[in-house]
Amino acid sequence: MFKFSPDNPVKIAIVGAGAVSDYHHVPGIRLDRRAKLVAACDASEDLLQRRRIDWDVEVVSADYEAVCADPRVDAVVIATPNCTHKPIALAAAKHGKHVMCEKPLGLDADEVRQMYHACRDAGVVHMAAFTYRFAPSMRYLRHLLRAGELGQPRHFRSQRFLDWPETSWGWRQYKNQAGAGDLFDMTIHRIDFAIDLLGPIRRVCGAVARFVPRDVTKDGRACPPSEVDDWSSLIGEFDGGAVGVWEGTTLAKGYGMNGFGHEWAEINGSKRSAVYRLHEPHKLWLGGTGDDLAPRDVPVELLKPAGSPRDPHSGVPATVFRYDLMWEFVSAIVEGRDAVPSFYDGLRAQVVADAVLQSHERRVWIEIPEEPR
Ligand SMILES: NC(=O)c1ccc[n+]([C@@H]2O[C@H](COP(=O)([O-])OP(=O)(O)OC[C@H]3O[C@@H](n4cnc5c(N)ncnc54)[C@H](O)[C@@H]3O)[C@@H](O)[C@H]2O)c1
Repeated sequence: MFKFSPDNPVKIAIVGAGAVSDYHHVPGIRLDRRAKLVAACDASEDLLQRRRIDWDVEVVSADYEAVCADPRVDAVVIATPNCTHKPIALAAAKHGKHVMCEKPLGLDADEVRQMYHACRDAGVVHMAAFTYRFAPSMRYLRHLLRAGELGQPRHFRSQRFLDWPETSWGWRQYKNQAGAGDLFDMTIHRIDFAIDLLGPIRRVCGAVARFVPRDVTKDGRACPPSEVDDWSSLIGEFDGGAVGVWEGTTLAKGYGMNGFGHEWAEINGSKRSAVYRLHEPHKLWLGGTGDDLAPRDVPVELLKPAGSPRDPHSGVPATVFRYDLMWEFVSAIVEGRDAVPSFYDGLRAQVVADAVLQSHERRVWIEIPEEPR
């Protein structure tokens, strides 16, 4: 087990010093006295020089292999384009480093299976960065469901609607770098938390679409057109008997909502319904027959993970819960246990997301096999 002391924090390297590292992971490390940011790795030298100052980090490198081999590093956070996750995760596992990787873990389930097996066999902590599991209202929803308050779950429903500009998404719009579009970027989170809430998905029928070419960059330069979906959907059946329906798009005009977009996920159970909404993560909407949906405050003890020093009332609620990912990763390392969600969870979600693409291509339902641990 990792022997934490104030003189021996978990020494973390960030690989991929772009947007998500700056918004989620570095603030998460800063909050946690058990963790220290010791290295930043990025393909861009310019960005590295900026991060050296902004993040106050001593070691900067463009070579992830060297960072993974560095004895001053205990754990690696992978936040690079999706096509690079697998080689970086395999390098981390080879050098015995704990690893948190952004979603989607890979370009397809075959890649993710290799990543999961390598980390499992190396005995390192592995974590998939499925952010929305950490929203306080999602924690409360899970708590109520497990306590039987909703009764037998019948329907799961998820909407993620964003109003994004119709310009290029950069690496995110090419299949060989991203795998897929809205499906792998957004809907995969909702597949993950649906499995967490309701158990394995047994079969799905999916559809994707691409409406916009995105052949111009934000600053007006021409670029190769998008190859990936900007709308994704599926219906599915869970092992436990419930059914689910998911829809996501980046082209929902009028759904900007201060950059957070619209997110709605709900469960209709035999007793009650419960609704989670991203931009009000300290409330859950609950209702039953003759008792229409109304907001209820998330109990104080569920606003953050036990022991976390984060003040849930400091900062924008829909932003700051994302720092709890790092708390979970470091806790798993310090406590010598598996992280939740793990690469196994990343694999289960990836298998379902891949099946959506197969279903769309073949115009059929796809059975989801049980994934061995
Ligand atoms: N969990 C979430 O809510 C969430 C949110 C946003 C992004 N993400 C995921 O995080 C990942 C990164 O997204 P982002 O928005 O930060 O992208 P980004 O483009 O802002 O940053 C990626 C960085 O990786 C660097 N990079 C590329 N190849 C590299 C390599 N081989 N070695 C080292 N650095 C390399 C790039 O130079 C860039 O700075 C993606 O997988 C994305 O899906 C997750």
